[in-house]
This record gives sequence, structure tokens and C-alpha cells, in this order.
Amino acid sequence: LDYRAIFAEALGRLRAERRYRVFVDLERDVTRFPFARRYRPDGGIEDVVIWCSNDYLCMGSHPQVIAAMQEAAARHGAGAGGTRNISGTNHPLVALEAELADLHGKEQALVFTSGWVSNLAGLGTIGQLLPDCLILSDQYNHNSMIEGIKRSGAKRQIFRHNDLAHLEELLQAAGERPKLIAFESLYSMHGDIAPVGKIAELAKRYHAMTYMDEVHAVGLYGPRGGGIAERDGVMGDIDVIEGTLAKGFGTLGGYIAADSTIIDAVRSYAPSFIFTTALPPAVAAAAKTAVQLLKDGGDWRKQHQRQAMLTKHALSAAGLPVMPNPSHIVPVLVGDAEKCKAASDMLLERHSIYIQPINYPTVERGTERLRITPTPLHADAHIAHLVEAMVDVWQALKLPLDHAQKIVEFPRQHAAAPGQCTFADFKKAAE
Ligand SMILES: Cc1ncc(COP(=O)(O)O)c(C=O)c1O
Repeated sequence: LDYRAIFAEALGRLRAERRYRVFVDLERDVTRFPFARRYRPDGGIEDVVIWCSNDYLCMGSHPQVIAAMQEAAARHGAGAGGTRNISGTNHPLVALEAELADLHGKEQALVFTSGWVSNLAGLGTIGQLLPDCLILSDQYNHNSMIEGIKRSGAKRQIFRHNDLAHLEELLQAAGERPKLIAFESLYSMHGDIAPVGKIAELAKRYHAMTYMDEVHAVGLYGPRGGGIAERDGVMGDIDVIEGTLAKGFGTLGGYIAADSTIIDAVRSYAPSFIFTTALPPAVAAAAKTAVQLLKDGGDWRKQHQRQAMLTKHALSAAGLPVMPNPSHIVPVLVGDAEKCKAASDMLLERHSIYIQPINYPTVERGTERLRITPTPLHADAHIAHLVEAMVDVWQALKLPLDHAQKIVEFPRQHAAAPGQCTFADFKKAAE
């Protein structure tokens, strides 16, 4: 048996479907974000502008976050030393959990080594412990939620994306058995936002529990960065809020926040929590600093929204097919896997702009796109450069530019704000 040939053939299938992934070798530079150094395959090194980072608020580069990490590493060492049970419960981790419980107005929080693992552990355990549980899962839920649901062994039904009528139909049909509604607050590939309050209302009416992934919203929305549920004033109506420390909070790890009995049950039953080494104290200390800073980060969030709205406005005004949504995500439709990859390559090679192509299975076939994520550190001049480069690539690839489309509005309140922001401004705003 030729084992190697089997793997080579599997890779060949991905290549044939234009789904084979190529990583770009980058070196982020905290002093010059959004610029990074790119190590080219030919051995050359060049500066590129990153336009697809999920470190949405650049907290991974924030001097106070880095200082907290350095100080904790110097004091407590590089690693955690064990699982939570076996000497891995370092004090910075306990302090981080208290900070997160406070952020979401919940009794307790539990930290995991990633957001992916938190969904595996959270959904996997809750769905397993509820006898005869039916999990109602949004059609566009993230892979980590799907894996958690599978892991739980519970029966699963999928409701059409953000479709309240379909969800209600399934709730009604389910009768009296325990039910768990699993959904996201902000869907990262489309940028649309769930009707969180209405889903919570339905849950109450049909005696279902709610589990909401706020991974792409924590730090970014709400008066203290608690996410969409905080923004909409419905945090108390969601039973379990799941988040990441790796995007808005710029570090690594994930968590769930909920009533203390639910947290204790997941802590006590989830293998993906029990049998793995804890997050290092330095990462926990850095994450806690980011969460604390963003509790006072209203002006930074405004600057983020301004740059995202300006990017959408400028791209759509130039005829580029921005997929409209109410969030900070800027998806631009290409609609073809090969052209999407070619557009990404051309942006990198011709314009030193890095935007990863988003292809199937992350999005449906025919909806391939470039997913752009402006940050508060992308200045107006970077946006002007991006628009120019995108138009050039669209013309070179003979992709359609639509000058008759409705231009995404640039809200007036942002027009007065400055288009250049630094961490010094953030600090001023936080004081
Ligand atoms: C909706 C959603 N949930 C969970 C995760 C996993 O989070 P993490 O990157 O912290 O593992 C992601 C990752 O992109 C995500 O998009």
C-alpha cells in the first residue's frame, strides 16, 4: 500500500477544486501596524499592508497589553505547568475569569486554550448533560460549534440563518424536551448580526436554553465591549455567552460565561478542558489587560467603526461589489474561486496588500469573496491606497465594477472624527 500516494491524491483533490491553501509568511511589526514584513518565496523581503487581521482592535500590539505579558512571563514563567487540576491554575487565569464574568454580567467564566475549544467543550458538555436534548443550530454556525454539537451526541436540527419563523416552527414541534438554541451574534464571513433579543424571547416562550457565540463581537460592541448582547441590552437573557481572547482582545484563548452551576458542570465534565494544559499566565495577564482597557475603550471602538464604514463607502463608491451588512466586516464579492485567489495574489504582488481569499467550504460556492477587516490603525490614506489597488485588480481580471449600485453610506457622525489614530489617542480616550 502506497500511503504517501493516498495523501498526495487527497491534496490533489483540493488543488483541483481551487481549495488548496497557501500561507503567506508574514512578520508583524508592532511599531508599524498595519505594515508587516513579508518573506517572499524567492527569498526577498518586502513591506505589505495587512487588511485581513482578526486582531480587529490591534490590542495584540497595544503597549500595555505587551507590558502585562512581559511582566507576567518574567514573574511566573513561560508556561502554565500543567492542566488546571494539576498546578495549571495560575492566579492571572483566575483574575482573567473574574474580569470576563464581570464583562458579561454573569456569575462565572471559564477560560479555555482557544475559542474553538470553548465551543467544543461548552456545547459538547451542555448538550450531553441535558437529557434527551435537542440542539437547534443556525445554518451558518462556525465549525467549532458544529463539532461541539456533534461531540454532545444530542439530536441536532438546523434552522435557516437568522430565520425566527423557522426557529419557532422547530421549537414548537419539539414539545417539552430540553432544547438548546445555538447561534452566533455576528457572523464573520457575512458580517450580519443576529436578532439576539428576539431569539432570547422565543427561547423564553418555549423554555429553551440559549448558547451564543460572540467571538467576532467581544471587545468591539457594547458600552464596555461586552458584545452585541450588551449593545442590545439583552446580556441577562442569554444563558451562555462564548467568546475568544484572540480577536478583539488580541491574544489567545477562549471562554464561556454563565451561571456558576453551568460553568462548574463544564469545568467538571469537559475532557477538552480537563485533559489539556492551561493557558500560560503571561497570556492570561495580557488578555485581562486588553479586556480592562476595552471596558473604557468607547472612543477606540468608534474609531474602528469609522474606518470600517469609510472603507465600505469608498470601495462601493468606486464600483466594487461590497456585500452590505451592519458590522465592521467588509466582504467584497468575487463569486469565483479561481478569480478570488487571483485577486488576492495580484493585490499582494502588484500592490503589497495582503487580503486572504475566502473560498468554499468557509463560504458557499459562487459566493467566494475577499474579506476585509479595517482596524483603528488603518488611516484614511491606507483606505485610499486600498481602493486604488482593488480597482486596478478588478480591471485587470475583468471583474465587473458596478457604478449604478447603492453606495454604502458613510454616517455623518464619523465625518468630523480624525482619520488617523494611534495608541496614544486610545490612552487619552481611556483616561
Ligand atoms: C464564530 C467563531 N467561533 C469560534 C472561533 C474560534 O475561535 P479561536 O480562533 O479563538 O479558536 C472562530 C474562529 O474564527 C469563529 O469564527
